[in-house]
Amino acid sequence: MKAILCTHFGPPEDLEMADIAAPQPGPGEALIRVRAAALNFFDTLIIAGKYQNKPPFPFSPAAELAGIVETVGPGVSGLSPGDRVMGYTGWGAAREYVAVAAEQLVKLPEGLDFERAAGLTVTYGTTIYALRERGQIKAGETLVVLGASGGTGLAAIELGKMLGARVIACASSDEKLVFARAHGADETVNYTSENLRDALKRLGGDRGVDVVYDPVGGPYAEPAVRSLGWEGRYLVVGFAAGEIPKIPLNLALLKSCDIRGVLWGTWTKREPQAQRALMSDIARWCVEGKLSAHVHAVYPLEETAAALKAIADRKVMGKIVLRP
Ligand SMILES: NC(=O)c1ccc[n+]([C@@H]2O[C@H](COP(=O)([O-])OP(=O)(O)OC[C@H]3O[C@@H](n4cnc5c(N)ncnc54)[C@H](OP(=O)(O)O)[C@@H]3O)[C@@H](O)[C@H]2O)c1
Repeated sequence: MKAILCTHFGPPEDLEMADIAAPQPGPGEALIRVRAAALNFFDTLIIAGKYQNKPPFPFSPAAELAGIVETVGPGVSGLSPGDRVMGYTGWGAAREYVAVAAEQLVKLPEGLDFERAAGLTVTYGTTIYALRERGQIKAGETLVVLGASGGTGLAAIELGKMLGARVIACASSDEKLVFARAHGADETVNYTSENLRDALKRLGGDRGVDVVYDPVGGPYAEPAVRSLGWEGRYLVVGFAAGEIPKIPLNLALLKSCDIRGVLWGTWTKREPQAQRALMSDIARWCVEGKLSAHVHAVYPLEETAAALKAIADRKVMGKIVLRP
């Protein structure tokens, strides 16, 4: 089978296209013929050795996929050859076949295509876990989304609206903000041309904002925390800007507010049944038109390096998908 391999840590152009033997499914696993694999920002980190997960070499990037069950290993029930599925692998999906733990797969409902399904698991899974379980967001509250046109950001706009929040989308260009509004944002802030703190003070009013969803970090984190109101919640999702911010703890004291971490990948392993139920909900909401699962572009497997560079260069709105 064709596979994109990372044989040493480095930039996207160091990835190699190889012909290797297809895997066999082990106990509890299903062998999936990958029809679409989605990339995330963290794939740019994992191949560079800058991510918390460091898989053994050689490995393939791409943490999520949609495809068809080819065979199942011992002990798997509820999945059969020919089933259309989507799921989470952590890494390893940029190839034609992959063996995946059956508990990380859900069947695709009618009407959900492979390309949108491939990119649903990580961003929407992370975000519903972040907003509902960690942020305990309530209808009528104000939600600020940083990096709002990216994969997780778009999911936060759409799920935030579904949960009844007023959504303030923040991004680096007017084009990205038009995209954010088209996907449901009520208000927008261009944090390249406008001071984020001033804009959130204006839009948050006397009460301040209730929840901040931050997949970006860097220079935007502290002004976002300063914009929280009484008992607000700041959700630490990621650091796409590269710099891990340091927040003065007096801000948490003065607002009686919370800084809450979100580590969805580990949660899926601790709570596999809750995760599967949540993914079935997300797939259904997508079919019902409540979530867009917007695909910015589809690249052939051999162009994985170009796809990763587009993500690192902030050129993507929504998701990038690979087609093996
Ligand atoms: N905690 C979890 O469980 C979890 C799960 C999934 C992902 N994450 C993390 O969430 C972060 C975002 O992931 P994603 O897949 O949504 O990424 P993405 O689609 O690439 O979006 C990230 C956004 O960050 C902004 N950004 C600001 N500075 C940037 C820079 N120097 N380089 C690239 N982007 C920059 C960009 O928006 P603007 O141009 O508008 O600023 C971009 O749209 C990553 O750090 C990822 O590791 C965490």
